[in-house]
Amino acid sequence: MIIDTHVHYDDEAFDEDREELLASLHANGIGCVIDIGSSAESLPRVRALAEKYDFVYGAVGLHPDEVGDLTGEVMADLREDMKNPKILAVGEIGLDYYWNKEAKEIQKDAFRKQIYLAQEFGKPIVIHSREAAADTLEIVQEMYGPGSSGEHMERKGVMHCYSYAVEQARIYTRTLGFYLGIGGVVTFKNAKKLKEVVADTPMEYLILETDCPYLAPVPFRGKRNSSLYLPYVVSAIAELKEISEEEVIRITAANARRLFGIH
Ligand code: NI
Repeated sequence: MIIDTHVHYDDEAFDEDREELLASLHANGIGCVIDIGSSAESLPRVRALAEKYDFVYGAVGLHPDEVGDLTGEVMADLREDMKNPKILAVGEIGLDYYWNKEAKEIQKDAFRKQIYLAQEFGKPIVIHSREAAADTLEIVQEMYGPGSSGEHMERKGVMHCYSYAVEQARIYTRTLGFYLGIGGVVTFKNAKKLKEVVADTPMEYLILETDCPYLAPVPFRGKRNSSLYLPYVVSAIAELKEISEEEVIRITAANARRLFGIH
């Protein structure tokens, strides 16, 4: 069964058919999903979905565009979440210099704070990084590299929607022990760089994700995305790695279970 490691089923894009859609996942080969927090308002919805469905897990944290809301009260709630067995990770957290909604120093500070929380509780992190390649790598190396507090963590995290170069992908995976989240973008005609990264990275570091409702694969590009479209991503990866689709599903699911501690 496929594991979709990055969904936003709490998003209003799913208000009309959320129950139906979630109920259809199993029959379509999707074993479980991880609903990822982004804004402060999303967090109660993530908790509620994870509580309601046994195949929905959660990750909690504030997206770099939202870190202006990272108050002491929100941090205290996140800390409480770390004790919840259905909350598997801290995320999505990171740096976004494309939208640049918060000052860079505020983004970096919130990224580090949320990483410390994850490390304290032995949880992996889900990283969002856009147009911030150098600073993201610097912080991840500082927090998880040799001599750091996170160096010996068993389960470190994932670069969600990986969009940088092959050279950096090698450092994240083989040097630092992070995974790469691969989704709809790998099916895009113009995604030459990501196809290179997938071809170059050993399967043991790849996990599947949609980021739904965003980033639907070809032939649904631009439409609302859901886990039901992941077979298109599986088939693109199978082609690049020259292995069967079954192998892609089996290995990525085993990777996701290992990273997030899903039994
Ligand atoms: Ni996302």
